[in-house]
Amino acid sequence: MPVQKNAKLIEKIELVPGIFHFKVEAPEIVSTAKPGNFVEIRITHQTAPFLRRPISIYHLDKENGILEFIFQVKGEGTKILSQRKVGEEVDLIGPLGFGTFRFDNYQNLAVIGGGIGIFPLYELCQEAKQAGKQISTYLSFRNQDLVVLEKEFQAVSDHFSLSTDDGSYAKKGFALDYLKEDCKNHSYDCIYACGPTPMLRAIKAFAEEAGIPCQLSLEEKMGCGLGVCLGCAVKIASSPKDAPDYMHVCKAGPVFQSTDVEF
Ligand SMILES: Cc1cc2nc3c(=O)[nH]c(=O)nc-3n(C[C@H](O)[C@H](O)[C@H](O)COP(=O)(O)OP(=O)(O)OC[C@H]3O[C@@H](n4cnc5c(N)ncnc54)[C@H](O)[C@@H]3O)c2cc1C
Ligand code: FES
Repeated sequence: MPVQKNAKLIEKIELVPGIFHFKVEAPEIVSTAKPGNFVEIRITHQTAPFLRRPISIYHLDKENGILEFIFQVKGEGTKILSQRKVGEEVDLIGPLGFGTFRFDNYQNLAVIGGGIGIFPLYELCQEAKQAGKQISTYLSFRNQDLVVLEKEFQAVSDHFSLSTDDGSYAKKGFALDYLKEDCKNHSYDCIYACGPTPMLRAIKAFAEEAGIPCQLSLEEKMGCGLGVCLGCAVKIASSPKDAPDYMHVCKAGPVFQSTDVEF
């Protein structure tokens, strides 16, 4: 059950210019949150920006009730949020989203992320690793300046692949290129993905062609984050073309089976 919490900011790190890692005290949210959930953050108590901003949960420190999230400054809301100081409060609603990452039925997991889409994948890797799963992680970033969390993901992966689109750091190319290559010799039980929409479309197509179950976390633009405004609709794949049906990413997702959605 989501709760509203004024959570004290206890640590703030700028990982690379414009990307911030916040740790906040939110035991009420941490106690029920699952990998793939997100929070809605109120930016200011002034009238603008009015809407809360959706940000994924990066890590749940369950022992200490600390919730961690990481965000890139994109527009006005994230810019104002980035100026919050340690000791101040962050107004959160969470955990949100019924569609979360599920791994109970699988042993060999392929986890693939691009850019700021890698953040919700970390808690999945952590919890799956603790549950004794085999984890192969494929991350890619546009260039060296945007590479974050390399050591963190390496520590929770049995096999780790890092690439940049322009080859300015690590291997050159897209994460999916390396996953496809490894799929020639390895069999994965499920693929878990989050990243930009074109990347997710390509992963969905590959997984479905290869017959590998695939769970995708969609980052649709959101208004309310609570299933009220209809701002985050995604087409239900099985619905007819001439009379399509939609689900709310914020409520039914953000994680979906790839075969359930069309985007
Ligand atoms: C489920 C979910 C999880 C997300 N997790 C993360 C994360 O962990 N780290 C991170 O850096 N970003 C994440 N995003 C994207 C983040 O929400 C947007 O970058 C942010 O809302 C931009 O707000 P802004 O005020 O800075 O930009 P503006 O462009 O000024 O925002 C204007 C409006 O558009 C919405 N909006 C703009 N871009 C996006 C977007 N890509 N997705 C959703 N809404 C958007 C905002 O909520 C706001 O209502 C996530 C988005 C979703 C839907
Ligand atoms: S964001 Fe309002 S219904 Fe999903």
